[in-house]
Amino acid sequence: MKKNILGIIGSQYGDEGKGKFIDLLSEDYDVIVRYQGGDNAGHTIVIDGKKHKLRLIPSGIFANNKDIVIGNGVVINLTTLFSEIDYLIENNISTSNLYISNKAHIIFDFHIELDKLNEENKGSNKIGTTCRGIGPCYTDKAARIGIRVADLFDLDSLKEKVNLILSEKNQLFAKYNKPIFDAEKVANQYYLLGQKIKDKVIDCSVFLNNAINNGKKILLEGAQGVLLDIDHGTYPFVTSSNVTSAIAGGSGIGITKINNLLGIVKAYTSRVGSGPFVSEIHNELSTYIRERGNEYGTVTKRPRRIGWIDIVALKYAINVSGINELAITLIDVLSGIDKIKLCVGYMYEGKEINYIPPSNNEYSKCDPIYITIDGWKEDISDCKDVHSLPENCKKYLLLIQKLLATKISYISVGPDRNQTIKVGK
Ligand code: GDP
Ligand code: IMO
Ligand code: MG
Repeated sequence: MKKNILGIIGSQYGDEGKGKFIDLLSEDYDVIVRYQGGDNAGHTIVIDGKKHKLRLIPSGIFANNKDIVIGNGVVINLTTLFSEIDYLIENNISTSNLYISNKAHIIFDFHIELDKLNEENKGSNKIGTTCRGIGPCYTDKAARIGIRVADLFDLDSLKEKVNLILSEKNQLFAKYNKPIFDAEKVANQYYLLGQKIKDKVIDCSVFLNNAINNGKKILLEGAQGVLLDIDHGTYPFVTSSNVTSAIAGGSGIGITKINNLLGIVKAYTSRVGSGPFVSEIHNELSTYIRERGNEYGTVTKRPRRIGWIDIVALKYAINVSGINELAITLIDVLSGIDKIKLCVGYMYEGKEINYIPPSNNEYSKCDPIYITIDGWKEDISDCKDVHSLPENCKKYLLLIQKLLATKISYISVGPDRNQTIKVGK
């Protein structure tokens, strides 16, 4: 089958290095589409040593002459959008081919305030969200009171919609002594913001299907990771969107047309925010890895929790999403570690299990079963092919490939575009 439509998704808890691969592979595609999430994402792209960070605009924007689309499954913070457009223009990156779905939902300031309030009220049970209003915006979408891009252009009906959406929220803000929002002011403010994007608005599904019919190649950009998926992740410690199945729904491309799914896998595991993490490392080795991997949140700057690679969780992620090839990233970070562990099973109440239990309570009580292999000392960040990798590094990669029964197509040995080994290519 001709592989003309590629999805790139995170296979763990986000921050696997999706941005790098979306940028790298965009060269081979005509249209790059983000299909879910919002500015909770933080994607890093390094080109010739210069670091760029994007939260909302697809990472394919740095490739030349591509159409870049923010799909209907995304929730849009317009302030973030404009600041990213300004940043790109300052860096001589054209945004003239950036398009926005008329059906994407808008994140309002009150969603952000509500996100913060929800977290405060949860106390020690808080999710550790990015406080970008993602959950409340998707909540309104599901409650069918959300406001979409297309709604920004008719001021009278926008006022009615804002009134409706604020009626309950303002009561809640008042109850907790938080400032309330003036619906008229909010509607006027967002109407004006809407005017600034009007010429970029498209019907995403029509646009993409026309492109496909004209023989164009499409790359779909995922945010977050499978274990943060609202259905398949470690609920409730997840984000509020579908990370995997939204690939079709969030873009308006029929599911039968998506024929290749590249899972990005960090050579270890990281997680920001609360939730179970069976293979978490609780000794000084986590600091070694965190510092070498610069494991601090792109959006919130929080230190990321660090653990060994979790084969059980990865097998699950591959199964629920249909990932058919892998890119292993940040493997250079593991240089200098004497013994490397892979979590290959869990112990739950004295029994060995090889699946993720459905309840978080149970998952938090699981202990890791590890196999341990020898590490390598060499710096591998300049390696250009598989043969030049240290023997133990090759053994580690082959073991991951075997345990996951999925082909490793790329090995990433540093953040830059050119620090990438294409396996057998
Ligand atoms: P994303 O959210 O999946 O796009 O990932 P992030 O950009 O949030 O986090 C990945 C981090 O690792 C970024 O700082 C990247 O520049 C960096 N990175 C990506 N691939 C590699 C790699 O192979 N080696 C190292 N050392 N850093 C990498
Ligand atoms: P990228 O695309 C890592 C996490 C938050 C929190 C949970 C819910 O860069 O991989 P939310 O604000 O979405 O309601 O927070 O999800 N989270 C991420 N963690 N990378 C991300 O995106 C994330 N987006 C959300 O830390 O635990
Ligand atoms: Mg990130």
